[in-house]
Amino acid sequence: MQIYLDTANINEIREAASWGILSGVTTNPTLVAREKGADFKSVISEIAELVDGPISAEAVSLDGEGMVKEGLEFATWHPNVIVKVPSTTEGLKAVYQLARKGIRTNVTLIFNASQALLAARAGAFIVSPFVGRVDDTGVDGMQLIREISQIYKSDPEIKTKIISASIRHPRHIIDSALAGADIATCPFKVLQMSMRHPLTDRGIEQFLADWKARS
Ligand code: G3P
Repeated sequence: MQIYLDTANINEIREAASWGILSGVTTNPTLVAREKGADFKSVISEIAELVDGPISAEAVSLDGEGMVKEGLEFATWHPNVIVKVPSTTEGLKAVYQLARKGIRTNVTLIFNASQALLAARAGAFIVSPFVGRVDDTGVDGMQLIREISQIYKSDPEIKTKIISASIRHPRHIIDSALAGADIATCPFKVLQMSMRHPLTDRGIEQFLADWKARS
């Protein structure tokens, strides 16, 4: 399973890219808005300089035609740009039209397996089921990844990838891999948490103490 970073923060992307673990980046309007005053095109272009992999940029139109128009513009920014559209019937229209023009899409805000199946049928490159937000409703978010994975695997025509999104903690990453996700898109903080373990810290301290004390 590949790891993407779910952020529009350039410093976080630069740092995670230096670890050699990043295969792509996802953004959404909330994440871009958090980077006060940043111009959307400049942010996406800068990310594309740092990470050689798919970079999702989200359209904000609600109608398919508007999404296609935005998507066509995003696609001129960099060949790695993936156009993110919401999981609505208008979103499906945009996916279908953009796919016919060879432009890859990420269908976001997926909350059930039928949305994922229809997005794949329309020609989505990626779907983004939001596991954390499903968990928030008291339902097991990971079950959604399992169902989509099973449906996609049973249909040789479907090449759509599954991004496990709305990741909240390190266990979500592991469970996503076990449930059949192709990618987990993670907040920077969760990636940092994933690499921390008190026994690792204690082991380093012990090794250094023994090294200094050697005769
Ligand atoms: O990738 C989707 C993500 O940005 C949403 O995460 O934590 O707001 O549900 P969250």
